Amino acid sequence: MNIREDRIIIFDTTLRDGEQSPGATLNIDEKLVIAKQLARLGVDVIEAGFAFASPGDFAAVSKIAQTVGTLDGPVICSLARARHDDIKAAAEAIKPAAKGRIHTFIATSDIHLEYKLKKTRSEVLAVAEEMVSFAKSFTNDVEFSPEDAGRSDPQFLYEVLEKVINAGATTVNIPDTVGYTTPSEFGALIKGIKENVPNIDKAIISVHGHNDLGLAVANFLEAVKNGARQLECTINGIGERAGNAALEELVMALHVRRQYFNPFFGRPSDSEAPLTNIDTHQIYKTSRLVSSLTGMLVQPNKAIVGANAFAHESGIHQDGVLKNKLTYEIMDAQLIGLTQNQIVLGKHSGRNAVRTRLKELGYELSETDLNRAFVRFKEVADKKKEITDWDLEALVNDEIQQAADLFKLELVQVSCGDHARPTATITLRNPDGQELTDAAIGTGPVDAIYKAINRVANVPNQLIEFSVQSVTAGIDALGEVTIRLQHEGRVFSGHAANTDIIVASAQAYVNALNRLYAFNQQQQKISPQLAS
Ligand code: KIV
Ligand code: ZN
Repeated sequence: MNIREDRIIIFDTTLRDGEQSPGATLNIDEKLVIAKQLARLGVDVIEAGFAFASPGDFAAVSKIAQTVGTLDGPVICSLARARHDDIKAAAEAIKPAAKGRIHTFIATSDIHLEYKLKKTRSEVLAVAEEMVSFAKSFTNDVEFSPEDAGRSDPQFLYEVLEKVINAGATTVNIPDTVGYTTPSEFGALIKGIKENVPNIDKAIISVHGHNDLGLAVANFLEAVKNGARQLECTINGIGERAGNAALEELVMALHVRRQYFNPFFGRPSDSEAPLTNIDTHQIYKTSRLVSSLTGMLVQPNKAIVGANAFAHESGIHQDGVLKNKLTYEIMDAQLIGLTQNQIVLGKHSGRNAVRTRLKELGYELSETDLNRAFVRFKEVADKKKEITDWDLEALVNDEIQQAADLFKLELVQVSCGDHARPTATITLRNPDGQELTDAAIGTGPVDAIYKAINRVANVPNQLIEFSVQSVTAGIDALGEVTIRLQHEGRVFSGHAANTDIIVASAQAYVNALNRLYAFNQQQQKISPQLAS
């Protein structure tokens, strides 16, 4: 058994499938920050994007390959449809990485063949084989996915897999594209592949699955028991429709229940050796980073990273936990990096203390970015006595998002109360550098601000979601505002943190408008699964 088989390979697709979630679009700087954090988390492979989708996607994959794809870093992968142009773009984009992978795919289910591809089975077989060989001419590390494998005829699937492995695929990924299978069916599919594909020992079996029926993680765990050794997953389970299998749930299930899973890896059940390479202490931080940069909020009852995941409300539970944690807790919150022992900074902390703490938290900022972060730190420290790690992270994430300003908020001023008509005045600098001021009356202060901004920005949109969360407890806490806008069927999110939630609301709105505006300016991006 080699290293690739005696533990699980974690393939993170937050930046590709995750970014396909409505409203989760990320710019290149945000993708880079997430990729660096994924490397710290210890993922084995980062699917950095679909290079052919647009020049922006190509640049992001290439930048991640260059910056994060070091010799001791993760493998950097680009998705490519089974087409020459896609594969060439993927090969070019991953070139700067020390370890690069091309992941090519074509659908194999009859329904996709008939309605999407309009191809026969033998045509698909030939394309798959030819495109894997083509990809192999650029890199040794080639992954192939038969899209919609969960609904494909297993006999045809075996035939395709045998051919692509002979053509050089080193990983064969089995996607439950529409989240249709059940755990026992998915496990049996992997078992069938192991038993019926004669050259399967020459490739790693990987799984990819969507959560339409809420079964993705359960399906993967059953696949692991039957021989799957690579899991394709995303942080917080984000992704197309109901999302992908959540990385944190898979990793913690394999960690907490390793006595149960060990024998499937040929280990004694009491072996303490980890089943993945993930540094679990980085999980919570990665979850918050992805949530704030994508604008995809984490539901409070979400397993592992939800706000309530380690909270005990009922008196009986609290009593039990105080006597012995194990009565109601199967894992320690510290294991995912949720620690109470945070370093606290305050208004007397200097630039060096902020830089050092940010470095310890994994943020290596340039001098310019550090200066911006320090100015924000001082502003907040003047209003808030103690600045925790979470506050610092919220401020830095906020700065990353505001960095690509097209519209810039210069001033926001509101008057409201139970005997006043909520009125907002705003000054906005537009992408041409003009400063524009206007005012509006609304049903409440936030409505008034958004109306005033709309009068100036003139970017049509519909507000579909608005939420405020507090970063830490306490009356002086930073408030984080996340909003989602819709325009012509597409969703754009915005996020901002400030001790004044009215200001945060205005900044979050401008942040979302900037994404919408940037999207309208750029060349339209291709979705890998809609176009053939
Ligand atoms: O869901 C899916 O089938 C995919 C493939 C491109 C692997 O995302
Ligand atoms: Zn997918």
